[in-house]
Amino acid sequence: MLIDDIEYVIFRHPDLATIDGFMKDFGLLPGEQVGDSLYLRTYGDAPFSYVTSKGEAAFLGIGFRVRSIEALKELAASFSTAVADCPHPGGGQYVVGSDPEGRRLEFVFGARRSVPVPAGGTPIVWNDAHGKNRPGKFQRPQHGPAHAMRLGHLAIFSPDPKNLIAWYCETLGMKPSELIYQGEENNTLASFLHLDKGAEWTDHHTVAIIGAPEPALEHISFECRDFDDVGMGHMNLLDKGYKHRWGIGRHFHGSQVFDYWYDPAGFHVEHFVDGDLVNDTTPTLSYPFGRDTLLQWGPAFPG
Ligand SMILES: [Fe+2]
Repeated sequence: MLIDDIEYVIFRHPDLATIDGFMKDFGLLPGEQVGDSLYLRTYGDAPFSYVTSKGEAAFLGIGFRVRSIEALKELAASFSTAVADCPHPGGGQYVVGSDPEGRRLEFVFGARRSVPVPAGGTPIVWNDAHGKNRPGKFQRPQHGPAHAMRLGHLAIFSPDPKNLIAWYCETLGMKPSELIYQGEENNTLASFLHLDKGAEWTDHHTVAIIGAPEPALEHISFECRDFDDVGMGHMNLLDKGYKHRWGIGRHFHGSQVFDYWYDPAGFHVEHFVDGDLVNDTTPTLSYPFGRDTLLQWGPAFPG
């Protein structure tokens, strides 16, 4: 049990003002600008969840929150490096490494948690065939951007998915929730990996690895407040003229209600809500690749 959660993603963008505007319309909150690095936070307690620096557009890497100082030292040994003071907002100590395909990996322990920002709303009470639970009350969610409560996961492309999946499992202690294969069952095409947190429930996937010709980012994903928040967030981004990618639908692997957008540099960013949780009693499932592995309902995958 090395890692508590994914904490942040690291990008570069040519125009910080443009990406700042988009990510705030997407549902993040202002953070600190330190030098030419722009930090943005969510409504949750992470010191920040997204950092980008001025330069040619690129996805650079992932930051994870480490469970203990012992776990941080174990990771330092794995990467043959030392524990250092973390320069990001929140401070703490960190270890910097990279995965076999060159993505920067940062592991932080002891960063100061931020005070969560109230995201408004109240739990949705549904009137449906199972019960009329909201007699006399109208459902009127407030207009405006979605509320990104936390960074939830990311999906990456790999030219060698089988080996990269094995590396994330062996080095970072992740476990496949589900595997997708093409043809023979041992021809692994993709996997949705969860954090090993023993009996503690954790997201169905924190990192998804998908076979592709080149290493790249497929998407990053933020958990929203509730179902209406995903819908209202969609409308807000549409009204502001941003480019929509795919959704709204419900995924198969992880079951999230999803909605994907393009950021100004073309990176895919996802809103989600209602994802599955797994723990060490959840069996690993295996599926052949097909339409059913992409979604349960919603518009066709745009490719
Ligand atoms: Fe996703």
